[in-house]
Amino acid sequence: MDRRSLRLLHAFLMLSLHLNPALGFISGVGDANVSEAYDWADVVNRLSYLTSLSLSSCDLPPIAPSTQTHFNYSKSLTTVALSDNHQNSSIFGWLLNFNTSLVEIDLSSNQLKGSIPDALGKMNSLESLNFDENQLEGSIPKSFGNICTLSSLSLSNNRLSGQLVEFISILSGCAKDSLEMLDLSLNQITGSLPDFSTFSSLKEIYVGSNNITGTVPEGIRNLHQLEAFDVSNNTMHGVVTEGHLSNLSNLWFLDLSLNSLALQLNKEWVPPFQLRIIYLSSCKLGPRFPSWLQTQWNISILDISDTGISDKIPKWFVELPPTLQYLDKLEKLNCIMVSEGRCRLGPEAGFIQ
Ligand SMILES: *[C@@H]1O[C@H](CO)[C@@H](O)[C@H](O)[C@H]1NC(C)=O
Ligand SMILES: *[C@@H]1O[C@H](CO)[C@@H](O)[C@H](O)[C@H]1NC(C)=O
Ligand SMILES: *[C@@H]1O[C@H](CO)[C@@H](O)[C@H](O)[C@H]1NC(C)=O
Ligand SMILES: *[C@@H]1O[C@H](CO)[C@@H](O)[C@H](O)[C@H]1NC(C)=O
Ligand SMILES: *[C@@H]1O[C@H](CO)[C@@H](O)[C@H](O)[C@H]1NC(C)=O
Ligand SMILES: *[C@@H]1O[C@H](CO)[C@@H](O)[C@H](O)[C@H]1NC(C)=O
Ligand SMILES: *[C@@H]1O[C@H](CO)[C@@H](O)[C@H](O)[C@H]1NC(C)=O
Ligand SMILES: *[C@@H]1O[C@H](CO)[C@@H](O)[C@H](O)[C@H]1NC(C)=O
Repeated sequence: MDRRSLRLLHAFLMLSLHLNPALGFISGVGDANVSEAYDWADVVNRLSYLTSLSLSSCDLPPIAPSTQTHFNYSKSLTTVALSDNHQNSSIFGWLLNFNTSLVEIDLSSNQLKGSIPDALGKMNSLESLNFDENQLEGSIPKSFGNICTLSSLSLSNNRLSGQLVEFISILSGCAKDSLEMLDLSLNQITGSLPDFSTFSSLKEIYVGSNNITGTVPEGIRNLHQLEAFDVSNNTMHGVVTEGHLSNLSNLWFLDLSLNSLALQLNKEWVPPFQLRIIYLSSCKLGPRFPSWLQTQWNISILDISDTGISDKIPKWFVELPPTLQYLDKLEKLNCIMVSEGRCRLGPEAGFIQ
């Protein structure tokens, strides 16, 4: 969108006059300043053919109570993307006017407070819901388990609390068959990590920075589609073995850091996956240098600091992939570099003299 059309959009939202009800899209990111469009919802309500409302980081003020009550609300509005604005919880009620058409809602980085209303679970075509970075409390509504289309649920960085098992049990309705991504990181969720076994489509689990305790259940082995697994920064303990990982051939992101977990993998084990991002800081890996890393030729980020390794850095490690970007905090590794091996990492990697 160029400057001119942004200005037009601004004028359009400000004036709310002579609307063309056939307008299908409203979009603008960052530089459409609509901070004085207090009546934006009144404008949008009149657009009965609108399919997408996309105004992220536009200083959009909180929705105001409508002056009119009867509208022919769009039956085709699929996308509401209003990330990084000033919306408060009053927007929930408005969203329900589009309960049969909305597919994607992004209200991340707004000022949503209190609990998530149960009525949102009535949206029967919703696929993606993002409420990251708000101040939402409590658990998720029971109705969410009945959104049979839900594939991505992102609630990171809120004040959600309660047992993780309860969240998973709520989602165990038909949503368990559609859910691919669940992000509950940076909340105050407690209890142990449940067995996600029945969530057959799950590809990404992020539950880092909560108060999760207990061990990693072996049942995660059944999540054949799993690509990303993040339980970092909790108070988990116990051992992660091949039993957990041996069937996860799509895994590329693994973050077990900042717990009291030990990773015990057989020296000869060849993992079925190629990890690209590995955070294992403060896990127990040592004292031997983990030989399974030798099989991982596509790593771009590796953090094995503070893992109790007290060994020589093997030659093959120095020859690890040219993709390796960050050897996070490697200086904390208690290793001695002896190999003369051909080094493709360069001196900026910080450990090769
Ligand atoms: C948008 O405009 C208002 C007043 O016109 C101003 O206070 C605010 O800082 C502007 N926001 C941005 C992101 O430029
Ligand atoms: C809603 O649509 C009906 C039928 O097309 C029309 O008669 C009515 O005036 C519309 N109402 C509003 C508030 O636009
Ligand atoms: C949201 O903001 C509007 C405008 O400031 C206000 O009228 C309304 O009460 C607020 N709603 C909530 C739930 O805080
Ligand atoms: C959508 O909202 C309308 C009005 O509140 C309600 O009558 C209808 O049952 C809702 N549809 C669904 C699928 O929940
Ligand atoms: C760990 O979680 C706490 C809150 O539980 C948070 O304040 C802290 O920033 C997190 N640390 C990291 C490294 O993510
Ligand atoms: C989470 O753990 C921290 C430190 O371990 C503790 O201070 C806090 O009270 C816990 N929060 C909850 C909700 O249990
Ligand atoms: C691994 O996954 C396959 C299907 O992809 C399944 O048939 C097999 O039983 C699984 N093996 C284990 C050990 O879980
Ligand atoms: C290797 O990593 C890149 C991104 O870093 C990715 O696009 C590619 O698919 C990966 N290859 C394999 C075989 O995993």
